[in-house]
Amino acid sequence: MMTPLPTHRVHNFGAGPAVLPEVVLEEARRDLPALPGIGMSVLEISHRSAVFDRILGQAETDLRALAGLSDDHHVLFLQGGASLQFAMVPMNLLPPDGVADYALTGAWAKKAAAEAAKFGQVNVCATTEDDGFARVPAAGELRRTPGAAYLHVTSNNTIAGTQWPVLPAAEGTPLVVDASSDLLSRPIPLSGLGLLYGGAQKNLGPAGLTVVVIRKDLAARGPDTLPAILRYATAARHGSRHNTPPVFAIYLAGLVLRWLRDEGGLDAADARNRRKAGLLYDAIEGSGFYRGTAHPGSRSLMNVTFRLPSAAIEQRFIEQAADAGLAGLKGHRSVGGVRASIYNAFPEAGVRALVEFMAEFERVHG
Ligand SMILES: Cc1ncc(COP(=O)(O)O)c(C=O)c1O
Repeated sequence: MMTPLPTHRVHNFGAGPAVLPEVVLEEARRDLPALPGIGMSVLEISHRSAVFDRILGQAETDLRALAGLSDDHHVLFLQGGASLQFAMVPMNLLPPDGVADYALTGAWAKKAAAEAAKFGQVNVCATTEDDGFARVPAAGELRRTPGAAYLHVTSNNTIAGTQWPVLPAAEGTPLVVDASSDLLSRPIPLSGLGLLYGGAQKNLGPAGLTVVVIRKDLAARGPDTLPAILRYATAARHGSRHNTPPVFAIYLAGLVLRWLRDEGGLDAADARNRRKAGLLYDAIEGSGFYRGTAHPGSRSLMNVTFRLPSAAIEQRFIEQAADAGLAGLKGHRSVGGVRASIYNAFPEAGVRALVEFMAEFERVHG
């Protein structure tokens, strides 16, 4: 009989690396010294072994099943974080004489565009910076380039607490999506999807793994003058094992993917995420004390951002919440305020605990 995980685990609202499903942590802990039937730790196995073949293969199978991917796309397990994708995307997909459209919806989107501008022409097809990135653009606001190499969007803006409720239509241009902070939190629209990438460390597993889903014809486009490790075609040809991949992170992501399937897949995850976020947004809206920062039509289901009447009261709120077992609520250092990150694995009980804490804090300080 396994001893349960320590009861002193707090509710972790951190933006990433972030909370993982407890059943996954329990299984990983149980099997850490020796994988069943293998007699070695997953930390000790070869990435070329049959046991890792199975782990990697199953993770890909589960991700494909969850997302409904066909054979048109590769699934790649890479390293370097989403930040390396900011560079790899244009290196592979943006010819020197080409144009890529970027929608600027936050700090991460700006970083992605800045990297792309080193390789080709970037057209900022929309920006909401004048609104403090408090919303995503409406579909009609996008000034797109005919024949663009791709359109890049950040599906969820982790810092600003906004999310595209619906991604823009591809209109014949491959859509490239930075889904780092809402990866597998809702069904993925596949029509027009050229490439989707995300660091695993929010919704999928530990840091050190980056998942890329890329249309096969796009993966073949990267020029062979690129260093091999920076070409999608290399990773695709070698089944994500051109060099040693992050074995443990892939193993753990595999456990998370199986958990997601067991919990009913992406429609069920979406429903749970809507319910959790709804509890928080209702609490914010029903109070004159807390003020949501995102426009209602652009609110993120993953990162709920809000302000209190002053920075000093926010500081007190964050400290007292931490004392009450509600950790990681400090907003990103560039914007301040409060941010509750409630990814797939974040339990509804934790959201309810925060809502109760907010009501009590308002009663005392409001
Ligand atoms: C939307 C988004 N894109 C990119 C990044 C950068 O990710 P990484 O640290 O994996 O490079 C982050 C990190 O939080 C993010 O939230």
